[in-house]
Amino acid sequence: MTQRNRKLAGILNLHDFEVAARKKLPRPIFGYVYNAAEDRKTYQANRSAFDDYRFVPRTFVNVSSISLETTLFGETHQAPFGIAPMGISAISAYRGDLVLAQAAKHAGIPMILSGASLIPMEEVAASGGTDWFQAYLPGTPDAIEALIRRVKRAGFQNLVVTLDYPVPPNPEHNIRSGFSSPLKPTARLAVDGLLRPRWLLDTFSRTLLRHGMPHFENNYAQRGAPIISRHVARDFSGRSHFDWEYLDLVRRLWPGRLVVKGVLHPEDAVRARDAGVDGIILSNHGGRQLDGSVSPLQVLPRVVADVPDIPIMIDSGFRRGSDVIKALALGASFVFLGRPFNYAAACAGEAGVRHAATLLADEVRRDMALLGVTEIAALGREHLYETSRLASGA
Ligand SMILES: Cc1cc2nc3c(=O)[nH]c(=O)nc-3n(C[C@H](O)[C@H](O)[C@H](O)COP(=O)(O)O)c2cc1C
Repeated sequence: MTQRNRKLAGILNLHDFEVAARKKLPRPIFGYVYNAAEDRKTYQANRSAFDDYRFVPRTFVNVSSISLETTLFGETHQAPFGIAPMGISAISAYRGDLVLAQAAKHAGIPMILSGASLIPMEEVAASGGTDWFQAYLPGTPDAIEALIRRVKRAGFQNLVVTLDYPVPPNPEHNIRSGFSSPLKPTARLAVDGLLRPRWLLDTFSRTLLRHGMPHFENNYAQRGAPIISRHVARDFSGRSHFDWEYLDLVRRLWPGRLVVKGVLHPEDAVRARDAGVDGIILSNHGGRQLDGSVSPLQVLPRVVADVPDIPIMIDSGFRRGSDVIKALALGASFVFLGRPFNYAAACAGEAGVRHAATLLADEVRRDMALLGVTEIAALGREHLYETSRLASGA
């Protein structure tokens, strides 16, 4: 057994990856992935929202054959979940964006390349790993048009526009852990790196030696700032003036499939559908933006009722197969996960991400059998019991 396989053998669920990544990554890098806004209330609410529902299993159903195949936008995936867009993944894992894309391809699931990624989108697209790109729109119509032209030229079919980043979130945890974007070349950063020699050798030094200093490659039509810089502040400003007209503009410019991410209010979901988007990802950014906001799972039933005609997808807080099943039973068309796949890539590269996808798929399959359901499309409200009814005695 190789060292990597031995390490993975001890990882039995997605939570285990977080423990392993904490040991491998320097404090600021782990903190960047782990952090949630302010008091982590939204992060915790994302997890506890699943407790609002319990399963009502059926017995004596022939569950000897179970299919996880899920069709989204006419494409069949091998599981009902995929990898959410995550910026700077190539600093927590060597060639992180490519690793995530290749592992997703192997697992037959979609992966969304982040606009805040460090490997040129053309290279990731050419690897054949994904045709999903996520954009944080640049601040002016000209820059938006130029970026969309580049995304189109690179060959992406699905454009995800993230709406829940009008301003950067409270940076207090990043300040405490020593993370900034770009990273500042301080003595503290050097010490943090030296304290994690495996990351320093496997990931950081290897990246520098083989590919040079990583840059923000995909926020704009042209290359952005380097990941380590004394002076440059990454341009996350200039987005606070956005309104729905910008989505109308993107819809006019982008002929492919358009998905918006970061919607929570049912009226925003209706507005986005009316603007002609092809799908919506309900999300609170994994609790990384507005602390105290609702969990996407809580608004899911209402959004599905109000917008029944396009796929409603969801992310934020999914860690177990049972979480995925609950969202699907409430009408979600697909589920995305962020942090666990990032940790998995950090711990063991592509093998780690594939292991994560296998663990989660196994949980979904096992739980469907225990629930008495053999295919994803058969999941429905009848399989769930709202725990609030327990209190009312209904
Ligand atoms: C390290 C990290 C980086 C992220 N970067 C982006 C990004 O570039 N674009 C985006 O739309 N969302 C980004 N997100 C949010 C994720 O796409 C997703 O909404 C969130 O991680 C889901 O919650 P989970 O981590 O609890 O699964 C990021 C999340 C993390 C953890």
